Amino acid sequence: MAIRIAPSILNADHTKLQSEIARIAPTSDLLHLDVMDNVFVPNQTFSFDDCRKIIAESPIPVDSHLMIANPDRDAVLFAEMGSRSVTFHLEAASNPSETIKNIASNGSRVAIAIKPGTAFSAVEPYLGEIDMLLVMTVEPGFGGQSFMPEMMPKVELANEWRQANPERDLWIEVDGGISLETIEQAAQAGADTFVAGSAVFKSAEPAEMITRLRLAATNVQRR
Ligand code: DX5
Ligand code: ZN
Repeated sequence: MAIRIAPSILNADHTKLQSEIARIAPTSDLLHLDVMDNVFVPNQTFSFDDCRKIIAESPIPVDSHLMIANPDRDAVLFAEMGSRSVTFHLEAASNPSETIKNIASNGSRVAIAIKPGTAFSAVEPYLGEIDMLLVMTVEPGFGGQSFMPEMMPKVELANEWRQANPERDLWIEVDGGISLETIEQAAQAGADTFVAGSAVFKSAEPAEMITRLRLAATNVQRR
């Protein structure tokens, strides 16, 4: 199983985003773009115009994580902007299947995210329709929070589903508190796509940190 590392630019220096992205791109698989509207979560980040520019200029594929109140209306815009992957929250969607179709028909991979309080059983009916499940390992809204190991049973259930449905090639992403201290337990549970914000951007050598995170996750899989 391939391991993917997706640095989150939420806690990068927003005054020099282009150079922040340029220095992590060579060792990253995806650029994780956190979009918050101050409604679904109590924080606001990039505007849609900012996102359009970031996606257009990114040297690597963009993984848009939409923490917005109306994904049924707006998620498709991120596919149209050229995100490689568009993730919306199950908790915010009124019509997940329709939103999945709209994103996919615009050429993006489709993912659903679940917050810590949302059970795996709530998202299970949609797993056959999507490309990736994002299991949040913190409450969405802010970087720099502590990893919640109690989310690992959901990752394990997703991994069991993947093993029972290999033709779907479901990716399992974790987001929140991923670092050299926590990535191994997430990999052990079955995650293959890892978002890391503070661990990367607070490091003196972000590109090197990404390589170390990838190695740690890969070593777990080899065991
Ligand atoms: C939180 C965001 C995360 C955040 C992760 O709501 O979805 O992507 O940037 O940051 P760290 O890795 O610092 O927990
Ligand atoms: Zn995120």
